[in-house]
Amino acid sequence: MPLSSNVYLNSDTDSFAHVSLTVRWPALIGTAVDDVRLELAALPEGQKKQQGVQLVEDMLAVQRSVASDAIVEPIIAEVPDRDIYNRFITVDGQRQQWSAMGWLDSECLVYRKLQIALEAQPLWRGFDYFARAKNDTFVKSAHAVSTLAERYHKVHVQLATRPPPEVLELLAHELFSTALWGNATDLSLLVTVSMEQLKELQVSAANRDKESLLVNDFKKVWHQLRSDAGGRVDIVLDNSGFELYTDLVLTLFLLDSGLAEQVVLHPKNLPWMVSDVVPSDLPAILGLLADATKFPLYRDDLDFIVHKLHDYLAEGQLIMRTSAFWTTPLPFSEIRKGGEGGGEAVYKDLRASKLVVFKGDLNYRKLTADKVWPYDTPFEVAIGDLAQSHIPLVALRTVKADVIVGLPAGKGEELDKQWKEEHPSDRAHAWSWGGKYAVISFYK
Ligand code: F6P
Ligand code: MG
Repeated sequence: MPLSSNVYLNSDTDSFAHVSLTVRWPALIGTAVDDVRLELAALPEGQKKQQGVQLVEDMLAVQRSVASDAIVEPIIAEVPDRDIYNRFITVDGQRQQWSAMGWLDSECLVYRKLQIALEAQPLWRGFDYFARAKNDTFVKSAHAVSTLAERYHKVHVQLATRPPPEVLELLAHELFSTALWGNATDLSLLVTVSMEQLKELQVSAANRDKESLLVNDFKKVWHQLRSDAGGRVDIVLDNSGFELYTDLVLTLFLLDSGLAEQVVLHPKNLPWMVSDVVPSDLPAILGLLADATKFPLYRDDLDFIVHKLHDYLAEGQLIMRTSAFWTTPLPFSEIRKGGEGGGEAVYKDLRASKLVVFKGDLNYRKLTADKVWPYDTPFEVAIGDLAQSHIPLVALRTVKADVIVGLPAGKGEELDKQWKEEHPSDRAHAWSWGGKYAVISFYK
């Protein structure tokens, strides 16, 4: 097996990296600028307004730099992860253009630069320029939200009858699958996928035919959950909105069933990849779910869910903590003794977990270092040092990028061929960019 040492590059016109650099990032930065402008419009003259005007200018400068494929400016702000980021910006001492950079680290750099622009304006501290997009899209998902609330209330009643293991396994499979497909709807896709298509993805998600699941290690996940009574399950979160809601319903199931006695949620500590969860998104989503003007239907089921979550938060069975590590560009092989950028502290924390669930596409790209691996590369090879960490982990990921490993021999090539036949003018690998396929990849 030739070990791959090269990452996906933004210059690769056959990769979603190139579409991201040339189309998606300028549009996504525009989303954030629009939100700051909306906030600005409501402000009276004064310091905060002046700082907001400067913030918009600095964000537009990032957008222009990306859109013109300029030479990338290093980070000069005194931030803890500055040297880690700047290491990726120069190659052999040479500063380079965005298009010459690796996809993963340059994508992280885009969001890191927006946050540095924000932090330069003290009166804007804590403002999330993606919050409006996250909350508005969540409220538009009212149908899927309400039906899942009704469903979970029934599951809770079933759990009270202490169902036999095979029934519990079916319920676990259903709720892990719902959380998996909840990942399909991340806002960064809205640049290339319509809201209607996104909602279709959301509602049809739970009953995706098994064709879409290219790797299914659920049985290993189930066995790991049953290996010890109770214990701690960690969820390294991805997107807010509907996906966070499905993660919270999965959390209720794990705690109500006793499969876990504690669940630890790991959000980001800054606005990230448009949709990702920041700490303030948890109280925000609980407030939205409790709001009968936003979610008028199935109120008793929604109130039940909100009440249970508040109880578990109050009892400390559900907790949330962030780490700056999640917003560095570092691959997850740094989750180890001596790991950089906070990786060692995350390693020490996750060692106590019975199962660590990594949600979504970006986490999968960091697990596999976003390298150009052959499709049938074993998952344990792609995750590198993390395979020696003794941390039982599973990636619940809808496929929205090029990297994918662990496929049966020939399967990836077959999907390329099939896509090329159906879309002659498109790149062969484009089947892996739209969140239509998924993997459940486990390693212990
Ligand atoms: O399609 C690629 C992408 O949009 C990247 O920009 C980013 O890595 C990721 O997917 C966001 O998806 P998720 O929220 O599932 O990590
Ligand atoms: Mg995300």
